[in-house]
Amino acid sequence: MDAIHALKTRRSVRAYKAQSVPKDIIEDIVDCGRLAATARNEQPWEFVVVTDGALRKKIAQSADYGKFIADSPVCIVVLCKDTKYYIEDGSAATQNILVAAHAHGLGSCWVAGDKKPYAETIRRMVDAPEGCRLVALIAVGYPEHVSQAPKRALKEVIHWERFGS
Ligand SMILES: Cc1cc2nc3c(=O)[nH]c(=O)nc-3n(C[C@H](O)[C@H](O)[C@H](O)COP(=O)(O)O)c2cc1C
Repeated sequence: MDAIHALKTRRSVRAYKAQSVPKDIIEDIVDCGRLAATARNEQPWEFVVVTDGALRKKIAQSADYGKFIADSPVCIVVLCKDTKYYIEDGSAATQNILVAAHAHGLGSCWVAGDKKPYAETIRRMVDAPEGCRLVALIAVGYPEHVSQAPKRALKEVIHWERFGS
């Protein structure tokens, strides 16, 4: 799949087949996260890949809008050291992972981390060091159903030279 096609056709997936994801594919999509743009090349990220069903269920119980993590074969926990640009860096890595997963024929969904009251609880669940920030939880698996969220049109969001034109 070429990059433009992957970027344009990725959609959130919240229902997954009960089929495990090969380890080399998981490593490849995390590798795409590792290579994201990062302010001052700080690369503050750490990625915890959770495949254990009991731990995924615990994470899902805490994540109010991420209950489907209990049924996705993989949950990638994106954490960052508390640097000035950790949220931008962690978000860039997260988006890379979503697109890479899609390019591998997988479905994924970004589940909120940083702004959520459960961020600290989940950091502790995966034994991440104190001070590490939970940026995102990413559910990954082979898609059973793909959501179709409506998108704003290009002509509505693009402005040439000045806002409003
Ligand atoms: C910062 C952020 C937090 C999100 N949190 C959740 C979440 O907790 N649960 C969920 O189901 N989707 C979550 N999403 C996914 C969005 O709902 C989804 O990207 C949006 O509806 C657009 O749909 P699309 O991903 O199919 O383009 C989140 C996305 C972002 C960027």
